[in-house]
Amino acid sequence: MEKHIENFLNKVSLVFITIATITLLYLYLHTPETCIPPNTPITKPHLKFPSSTCDPSLNHPYTDPTKKRLKLWSSKSWLSQVSSFTIFFQSLNLLNNKTKVLCVSAGAGHEVMALNNMGVSDVTGVEIVDSLPLVKRADPNNLPFFDGVFDLAFSAHLEEALFPLRIVGEMERTVRNGGVCVVAVKECGGEEVDAIARLFRKSMFVGAENVTLIGMRMTRIIMRVGISSSS
Ligand SMILES: *[C@@H]1O[C@H](CO)[C@@H](O)[C@H](O)[C@H]1NC(C)=O
Ligand SMILES: *[C@@H]1O[C@H](CO)[C@@H](O)[C@H](O)[C@H]1NC(C)=O
Repeated sequence: MEKHIENFLNKVSLVFITIATITLLYLYLHTPETCIPPNTPITKPHLKFPSSTCDPSLNHPYTDPTKKRLKLWSSKSWLSQVSSFTIFFQSLNLLNNKTKVLCVSAGAGHEVMALNNMGVSDVTGVEIVDSLPLVKRADPNNLPFFDGVFDLAFSAHLEEALFPLRIVGEMERTVRNGGVCVVAVKECGGEEVDAIARLFRKSMFVGAENVTLIGMRMTRIIMRVGISSSS
């Protein structure tokens, strides 16, 4: 290659390297600041799609989450659902103030609040999406808890689950020996109750009873963990 062309190319590379370095430095020194105030629970803005560009929420991108929660928690439907869960849990006669409870597929957390109101303070609610502070995000098929850490696991949404056997397995795993799993399912009896009880491979059937929960006729099934069922 001719000398002067080589020199020229060297100069061009040098210019590009300089530009790249300056750009990097600039980006490094000008990290954009977010406009999210501190202490805001981390939500998932990337999962929230406006239904249309006229979505009114776009004009009010920031609502105080505390205010939003208080509004929800004082709504009539919230209060009546919570009180329904309270009656449900009171009739269990299995709880005291120190019972460690896990609520699987806890939705917005009605049952968690009901238990807290009853004086049960150690309640963990999990759901695919979180509703802080009542419900944390966790995969019910793969609960992020050690074995045997809860006294009681509860779910009112076993039937909607894609893998009920898997969820039941996780409830049994995280409840201590001698603890209980409680599920509320669509009202049923006889063979259907047996079929649900058989999902619990490490527990013994304690009882099934028809109850009314959040306005629906449901059947409550109680299983005691650690004592092998008939199978
Ligand atoms: C918890 O303790 C309070 C006060 O002693 C009592 O009124 C309440 O019934 C207890 N709750 C449960 C679930 O045992
Ligand atoms: C619940 O009620 C239905 C309808 O009356 C009945 O067939 C079923 O056996 C009851 N289940 C239990 C567990 O008592």
